[in-house]
Amino acid sequence: MKIAVAGTGYVGLVTGVCLAEHGHTVTCVDVDEQKIEQLRQGQTPIYEKDLPELLVRNRERLTFTTDCAAGYRDAQVIFIGVGTPEKRDGSANLKYVYAVAGQIAETAERDCVVVVKSTVPIGTNDKLEEFLQARQTHPVRLEVASNPEFLSQGTAVRDTLHPSRIVIGAESPEAAEVLRQVYQGFDAPLVVTNRRSAEMIKYASNDFLALKISYINEIANLCELVGADIEDVAAGMGYDERIGGRFLHAGIGYGGSCFPKDTKALHWLANFHDYEMKTVKAAIEVNDHQKLRLIKKSRKYYRDLKGLTVAVLGLTFKPGTDDLREAPSLVNIPILQDEECRIQAWDPVGMEKFRALYPDGIAYCDSPEAALAGADLCLIFTEWPQVKALAPETFRRQMRRAIVLDGRNCYEPEAFAGSGVVYDSVGRGTVGEDSGMCQR
Ligand code: UDX
Repeated sequence: MKIAVAGTGYVGLVTGVCLAEHGHTVTCVDVDEQKIEQLRQGQTPIYEKDLPELLVRNRERLTFTTDCAAGYRDAQVIFIGVGTPEKRDGSANLKYVYAVAGQIAETAERDCVVVVKSTVPIGTNDKLEEFLQARQTHPVRLEVASNPEFLSQGTAVRDTLHPSRIVIGAESPEAAEVLRQVYQGFDAPLVVTNRRSAEMIKYASNDFLALKISYINEIANLCELVGADIEDVAAGMGYDERIGGRFLHAGIGYGGSCFPKDTKALHWLANFHDYEMKTVKAAIEVNDHQKLRLIKKSRKYYRDLKGLTVAVLGLTFKPGTDDLREAPSLVNIPILQDEECRIQAWDPVGMEKFRALYPDGIAYCDSPEAALAGADLCLIFTEWPQVKALAPETFRRQMRRAIVLDGRNCYEPEAFAGSGVVYDSVGRGTVGEDSGMCQR
């Protein structure tokens, strides 16, 4: 089929490339000249596993352009995959979605289904269809369908090629049929419903996962108080198929481009309808506190952080991505800076973006070992494999005072027994705490 995709970010670009992999002819449209030029040269502007190979393999079916008319004029299906960032009040900012819709209305010259992949508040697609039909310049049938995206960054290509489910929200059998054809070659259960339900499925799924994480984080915090071990507790819970073992990793909270924004958006939407989503509100509050957990813990070891040398391992919101959005590092590093700490940071792919935000006052190191050199405290924010591979001995040897606060439970605590390292993770108690080496 002839398909256009608006937006070449994580959602749009991955969708476009994966649809080309399935044999469709795809035009990816973006306003960013630089990105489009990069893509034309076969380079990906985002760090995402498997994407560069797929981009090259499907180059004959892929076109990249900033000329929206060229993309939308004769497309049978136009996917919208632009961002819906959070506004100051927590609601979703739809200006990019509407900007694309305006261009589609102006340029579409054949009947087409406009498919919204971006996460949008319930009811948006109804309004978008009215908007398109009121502005269209050619006498064609423009219909809007919802087809939410469930990809995770880092595994976006795999998630898109092998989705857990494909959700189609359409108001007419014809529009649903067009989407069935788009996804004909995919092996996944189809959920065909109306647009509002499809929009709700996306928020309900993301917010449920956020809730699951906040729940396990609270259980972890309680484990610390009562002497239980969160990893064993999560394993014991996960065998129950009604609960499931995934997304039960306790840590310093969720970040990224989806959970923080989508929890706030649903909470906002509920408020707008005079309803309070108490569970989602709690998930947000727990996460806000959890992100500061390591800093709070560090006070157990240092009454005053002023002037300490702090090693920070991991800056991105999770491994496998260079994305910093809502990463715990972004709330913790300013606190360390206020305390006039000497910050030695390492991340395998996130440092360039971090340096753009914080060019001064942070020593960016080219290895975890270099970040640990002479440090009084180590804070682990991201469970990169290179961090997980560090031995207790490395911390002991490199650091001035080996106090490791692990926000992602990267190691077995037993490995630190008798190592001369104070190892304090989430929900598992502390090893080496009584060594008396760290009060200041
Ligand atoms: C998420 C959803 O998984 C995806 O379906 C949706 O389309 C977009 O949002 P993503 O933001 O890429 O994907 O990352 P994900 O792997 O879900 O992790 C989000 C955050 O939760 C990360 O900060 C991660 O560290 C944290 N997390 C995840 C936990 O703290 N514990 C877990 O058990 C799982």
